[in-house]
Amino acid sequence: MKVADRLKDVELSLIRQINALATPLSVNLGIGEPNLAPDGHFRELAERAAQVPWQYTPNAGTLSLRKRLCEGTLFDPKTEVCVTAGTQEALFAVFTAYVEPGDEVLVPNPGFLSYATLAKIHGAEVVTYDLDPPDWRIDIQALRKRVTPKTKLIIVNSPSNPLGSVADAPTLDAVAALGPLVVSDEVYREIWYDAPPPTMLGRGANVVTLNGLSKSHGMTGLRLGWMHAQADVMKPIITAHQYIATCASAFSQGLAELIFDDAEWNRTWLAAMRAQFAAQREAALYAIRHELEIELEPPAGAFYAFAAVPACDSISFAKTLATDAAVLVIPGLAFGTRGQGFIRISYAAPVEQITAGIERIGRWLRAAGI
Ligand SMILES: Cc1ncc(COP(=O)(O)O)c(C=O)c1O
Repeated sequence: MKVADRLKDVELSLIRQINALATPLSVNLGIGEPNLAPDGHFRELAERAAQVPWQYTPNAGTLSLRKRLCEGTLFDPKTEVCVTAGTQEALFAVFTAYVEPGDEVLVPNPGFLSYATLAKIHGAEVVTYDLDPPDWRIDIQALRKRVTPKTKLIIVNSPSNPLGSVADAPTLDAVAALGPLVVSDEVYREIWYDAPPPTMLGRGANVVTLNGLSKSHGMTGLRLGWMHAQADVMKPIITAHQYIATCASAFSQGLAELIFDDAEWNRTWLAAMRAQFAAQREAALYAIRHELEIELEPPAGAFYAFAAVPACDSISFAKTLATDAAVLVIPGLAFGTRGQGFIRISYAAPVEQITAGIERIGRWLRAAGI
């Protein structure tokens, strides 16, 4: 059976290749999902959410949840927000609505690998804009030079996977002012350390912001995301979403609404979640400093440390660590060419595992004389 050309260059992701090398003894610092477990109250909310009607909801989501998502914004719940099956589906819907062969899509390098893959699936050319260590800032002058009449989408991801970096408000305004449609992936926005990351919400008529509950509430498997955009921009996206997912899970929408309704519990949950990641970030930075002798700029958001390693090829290095040191990390190259020489260490793991995993990397490097 001939596979459609659109999947021709889509390979098994490096992340899955590394995960395939896991054994029961491996320490997994490769994971991209939060180590959060629902507390008793959260489970009660889920039980209550199961009482919602199990039928289809409106394509864009229940109006009551859409109203919640628009509270405190100028967005119209009827036409300017759409609830999706996770941020990933939101991305797919935006690409389906707007990207076609001949278009260029600007993606961060290093950046979340879905962006480039979705551009390829939709026949567009991937154009990267570089982010450079140590702070991985978006260089607006350099980005502007990459915009051409063919640029259909610019993707921004703050806080970033895999970098943990956060873009400041002037930078986000400058990106919005570049002109083309901007997709701002803010799925890690609730996971921050010193200050809440700025949002692109409301920064321009050409901006689509994406968010979801996967990372902030440990709900990766429940597939609940949403996007905001002005009505004219949103209309074709909702059409695409209708043919991808029909609607997000009615149960997950009900749960999301209960979470937002219980503002006090939600505040407590988010504060505890941030405290947990702060402790895990501390452990990761300490071990990276002492075991790998690397001084990292502390990630301002998300739960990833992107560390330079003294090895020429980050893929073989990560594979060797998986097989010889029983620790899983993701080679930086999985996130684009600028990731060469780096590994992504996820600290979405218990402190003991973070410490043990990074110790194993340090021990392996010393044994190898590197
Ligand atoms: C930057 C980024 N965007 C989007 C997603 C997809 O998240 P969701 O579970 O909401 O589809 C991920 C998941 O790893 C991510 O890292």
